[in-house]
Amino acid sequence: MKGNIYIMNAIFDTHTHYDDKAFDEDRDILLPHIFENGVYAVVNQGTDIGSSRFGIGLAEKYDRVFAAVGLHPECLNEKSINDLEEIKKLAAHPKVAAIGEIGLDYCYDVPRELQKQIFTAQLNIAKELDLPVNIHDREAHGDMLEILKKYTPKGILHCFSGSVEMAKDIIKLGMYIGIGGVLTFKNAVKIVEVVRNIPLERMVLETDCPYLAPVPFRGKRNDSSYIEYTARRISEIKGITVEKVLETTKYNAECVYNVSVKR
Ligand code: NI
Repeated sequence: MKGNIYIMNAIFDTHTHYDDKAFDEDRDILLPHIFENGVYAVVNQGTDIGSSRFGIGLAEKYDRVFAAVGLHPECLNEKSINDLEEIKKLAAHPKVAAIGEIGLDYCYDVPRELQKQIFTAQLNIAKELDLPVNIHDREAHGDMLEILKKYTPKGILHCFSGSVEMAKDIIKLGMYIGIGGVLTFKNAVKIVEVVRNIPLERMVLETDCPYLAPVPFRGKRNDSSYIEYTARRISEIKGITVEKVLETTKYNAECVYNVSVKR
């Protein structure tokens, strides 16, 4: 299925973690391979200073890799405040397309006040540098929506897990909804309704690889080429062609990240 001519250069993966150790063995074989087989561009997300730097390194090496830099809520501690200045410096790199992965995750032990403080500080950095954000929101929908309404960032709510109503609120703020492999899972209900009820013009595709591989690869290591399966599921739900899904979401991703690949 991979490498069909109709999907050449059609996949824009808006959320990856190619710095993850799951790719240590074959990263420099895998990336050129997927770029020859339909993947147009990826945006690698930072979770701390080290992964943000690593992502910039990948972006320097590969035309089709862009970096997001940021502090993930899971990676925070009392000293994280000291890292904000470095995030701002890294964000000045020409291949940095966004501040991410930032947000709130109330499944973690990290104190909520600290999460909110670091999250909003990074929203301010994004605004100051005129960059979009890539946002992680787990079990924190109420606080998230309140903060987004107040700070009005541009960007993407990644791996969206909220209701149709929340998705519509996010879209009203001018943001995009990130759709990944979870959509293909047998037990997916909420996200299927979200896809059915929001316009394709407000969706972007993502993997969150190495995690969340779509069916039929669920549980295996994910990579950007598997986005084809998520796109197929969207095409079934919305009754449109997979080409239309890939083409529109790629365009959306180019717009929100303000990037394009030469050649
Ligand atoms: Ni992620």
